[in-house]
Amino acid sequence: MRLLKPVVLVAALAVAGSAWAADAVIKYRQDQMRALGGHMGSIAAIMKGEVPHRDQLAAHAQALAATAAFTETVFKERALDSKSTAKPEIWTDWERFAKDAKALKQASDAFAEAVAANDQRAMRAAMGQVGRSCKSCHDAFKTKG
Ligand code: HEC
Repeated sequence: MRLLKPVVLVAALAVAGSAWAADAVIKYRQDQMRALGGHMGSIAAIMKGEVPHRDQLAAHAQALAATAAFTETVFKERALDSKSTAKPEIWTDWERFAKDAKALKQASDAFAEAVAANDQRAMRAAMGQVGRSCKSCHDAFKTKG
């Protein structure tokens, strides 16, 4: 009988199909966005020399790039509610959204490579690109809320 529970759970998921609960979909992608923001904040503090954690920069850069890679996937399913600041245009102009997501991924990969190479100029340039890619997508696809 103890085996029954997982079976019932799997069956329930199968019935639910791709219609995941909207509030969970929204919370998950907001958590992902906040993770990006957290790593950006840590990276900025280290690069400005406000904290003595230079040895942690590469880990933040890799985590930023790894998390950025999920952006397209976590927004694929259309989900909107009053807690979301996502604009419906994401799903009517998906190509542009996907392009912005790829730009973020490319810029954060370039930043991680520059950190690994300890190339200060490339680090600053790539960080500028990362920041611009966050802003470009937010300007087009996020309400101010
Ligand atoms: C491809 C588009 C896109 C890119 C690139 C992007 N974001 Fe977002 N971001 C969004 C959207 C859309 C929302 C609104 C999500 C929602 O509320 O459903 C959002 C929300 C957020 C939020 C608020 C989360 C919350 O709890 O409501 C933060 C913080 C954030 N983004 C940070 C960043 C940072 C930092 C970057 C760059 C490193 C970035 N974003 C890049 C589209 C993007």
